[in-house]
Order: sequence, then C-alpha cells, then structure tokens
Amino acid sequence: MKIRKKRKILYYVLAALVLILGVVVMAYIYRTDNASAPIDKSSSKQQTHSDINTFDKNKYSINEPGSLWWIVSKTRPLPDGYIPPDLVTPDVSLNSTKSASENTLRKDTASALEKLFAGAKNNGIDYMLASGYRSKELQATYYNNYVSKSGQAEADRYSAKPGTSEHQTGMSLDIATVDRKNYLDQAFGKDTGGIWLAAHAHEYGFIIRYPEGKETITGYMYEPWHIRYVGIDLANELYKNNQTMEEFFGL
Ligand code: DAL
Ligand code: ZN
Repeated sequence: MKIRKKRKILYYVLAALVLILGVVVMAYIYRTDNASAPIDKSSSKQQTHSDINTFDKNKYSINEPGSLWWIVSKTRPLPDGYIPPDLVTPDVSLNSTKSASENTLRKDTASALEKLFAGAKNNGIDYMLASGYRSKELQATYYNNYVSKSGQAEADRYSAKPGTSEHQTGMSLDIATVDRKNYLDQAFGKDTGGIWLAAHAHEYGFIIRYPEGKETITGYMYEPWHIRYVGIDLANELYKNNQTMEEFFGL
C-alpha cells in the first residue's frame, strides 16, 4: 500500500473515533441533565398553575395583637392589659356554669363558630361553647387552681400562665358536646364529637391548636377540644400540611 493511502485510512479511523466519542459524551450529558431534574412521581402530566403553592404567608401579621394570624404562646405573651375589641355572645349552646364574659368571643370567631355548630348539627352532633374569652384575671384563677391540684410542672403542660393564654385573644375556645361526654378530656378526641371536629373544623376556619404529638412544638399537651380561629385559608393549609402555626411560620 502506498503511504498516502495508508494516511487516508488513518484519517477516516480517527474521524470515526472522534464521532463515536462525541455521541458518547452527548449521551452522558443528556442522562445527567435528566437525572438532576425533579421528578413528579404523582403524575406524568405537566405542572399546572393550581399545583404551584402560592399561599401568601405574609397576608396577615403573626405579631400584631388582634391580627387573624396572631400567634400567642408560652414564648409569645399578649401585651399587658390586652382586651379584644369586639367581643360578642355567639348564638350557640352556652356553658351555663360559666360567667357571661367567658361565653363571649370576638365577632368573626363567633359567627364562624355558629356555622361550625350548624354544620355539626346537620351531622347529628350537638356542641356547646365550654369556655371562650378569658380575661388575664380569670386565667390566673384557673392556672393557680391547676397548680394547687397538679403541681406547677404538670399544670404548665395544660394550662397557660396568665397573660399567655390564647383564650385571652377571644379567638380561641373550648368545645364540648352538650351531653358533656369526655368533657375537656383527651378521650374526647376519639368520640364522635372529637372526630368530627378534627375532620371539619378547618372548613369553618378553625384549627385544633394543640394536636397530639406536638407538645414540644406548641408547649401544650394534646387538647382535642381547644380550637383557634385563623380563617378558612390558613386553616385549610395547616390541615393539609398537618402543621401547627409554629411549624408553618417557622417559629
Ligand atoms: N389550656 C390552654 C393551654 C390554656 O390554658 O390557654
Ligand atoms: Zn382552651
């Protein structure tokens, strides 16, 4: 073979090798790109606008006293002397053993509660308002009684120190059924009344504020009867995510 012919063959072989190498490199890059792309395991459909979470966490303040999303807890006390601006008596079954004042709630909370109770009634459940707004002084009476009964360490797990109770906001309340079955007892969570409340409170803008298994987050043991009004949007969001206010707002 002539030298020129040999050189020509060598060029072809080299060109073929470069081509093969190029294809291999391209295939590798394509694989890596796809591997790092997020995979929607739930559906092969394209993401639609409604799939994107557009919830605005800043719509209402969590710090401003009286705000719909105001977070009150052991570490976030109410301002000294706080009294809710628009307390009313809801048109629901009330607790005859309590004062007129403890049977009040803020206006929006009261009307949402009336709707919640009507919804429950349609399902054969008769609720009563067991405890609504509590002044700082009333909370002090409760707290001191619990400390005498259980000792401070135990009382702190289920009763708020005066000036730190959500009840003082007028947007929280305790619910019981009118037959008082498992009245303010954790067993209420397994009764028809407690089960319905946990499943439907969010539809009316309420959350179970101290859910089971979240004591280290909320500061309080499980209270299936204590609900807080936050409005339907946030209540739905917390229900869907199984989160407390503290978790959702990253406190
Ligand atoms: N039981 C709730 C924590 C309160 O005392 O406000
Ligand atoms: Zn309560």
